[in-house]
Amino acid sequence: MQEIKITLTTSPKEKPADQSKLGFGKIFTDHMFLMNYDEGQGWHDPRIVPYGPIPLDPSAMCLHYGQADFEGMKAYRTASGKIQLFRPDQNMARLNVSNDRLCIPKIDEEFCVEAVKALVKVDADWIPTAEGTSLYIRPYIFAIDPMLGVHPAKHLIFAIILSPVGAYYAAGLAPVKIYVEQNYVRAVTGGTGFTKAAANYAISMKAQEEAEKEGYAQVLWLDGVHRKYIEEVGAMNVFFVLNGEVITPSLDRGSILGGITRKSCIELLRSMGYKVTERNLEIDELIAAYDNGTFDEAFGTGTAAVISPIGELKYGDKHMTINNGEIGAISQKLYDTLTGIQWGKIEDKFGWTVEVK
Ligand code: PLP
Ligand code: COI
Repeated sequence: MQEIKITLTTSPKEKPADQSKLGFGKIFTDHMFLMNYDEGQGWHDPRIVPYGPIPLDPSAMCLHYGQADFEGMKAYRTASGKIQLFRPDQNMARLNVSNDRLCIPKIDEEFCVEAVKALVKVDADWIPTAEGTSLYIRPYIFAIDPMLGVHPAKHLIFAIILSPVGAYYAAGLAPVKIYVEQNYVRAVTGGTGFTKAAANYAISMKAQEEAEKEGYAQVLWLDGVHRKYIEEVGAMNVFFVLNGEVITPSLDRGSILGGITRKSCIELLRSMGYKVTERNLEIDELIAAYDNGTFDEAFGTGTAAVISPIGELKYGDKHMTINNGEIGAISQKLYDTLTGIQWGKIEDKFGWTVEVK
């Protein structure tokens, strides 16, 4: 394994005094990890350096053609002072899925988990300790070839930055209002919906902005072809409880991100004895369930958002208030169990947590 060269900052920043006001992704720690790719050399020169600007040629490919992707994961401080990651191998495996689709050279997954650990160790004092807070970890890759031809890059940077965070939504675990998008689409079969391509997020902002103007937290995307199958929310996968059965859209079309929280929730719910089905789910089925009183619960899942109950769904003129706009029993149980494992309060029977020593 390559050695990671560490250069520590000589001017550490002030840490946030009030952990209740962290929000999401606004503050960054003292250091970052960098590694370069150059054709013929592969990934090389892994290093931890003081956090700061990265020089880029104005013609750098990522700025023009968006050849960039990323991951999102977290480090948690347990009551006994240990630092834990949650299924980091899954994030690095998914980064390679994104890399493959975007013609970005593969990374060494195991080495990149070690890089995350090394960086988290250096900035360990930045991990917040207040209830519900964690250290968000953002690994990302971008193409830096100084040229305007549209070709896969031969020169790239892999970076990791860290951000102490609280709740992703200002409302915390309170139910969010979601708007079913009818004008714009996010992904189609054959596209990049199953990856964390930076461009997926750029094209989602217009819908997001319009939803926010109407007082909604995010949009729920429908499939890009039939405009009827439920896909996912901007930064979360979605689950619905209809007549006691937990249903989440299947990943078959290749237009939905395979969330690590999604996968973990399916495993957790099944271990608790719930029936969980991955299948195509039409918006009309949700409306029918709402109208006949069998729409029990809805929630989103994601690293940043954790478990986010959905209190209202709007589809055209139809406003559906779910579970009286309150947190449902399954959402609460999942939140307690998942965060319990992540913060080391509940025994991890699945072997999902990885200690940063
Ligand atoms: N869907 C999208 C579009 C996302 O950006 C995310 C967040 O990464 C998720 C789903 C949830 O994925 P995960 O649970 O791996 O964080
Ligand atoms: C995450 O949940 O880690 C994400 O990447 C969501 C992000 C787009 C804010």
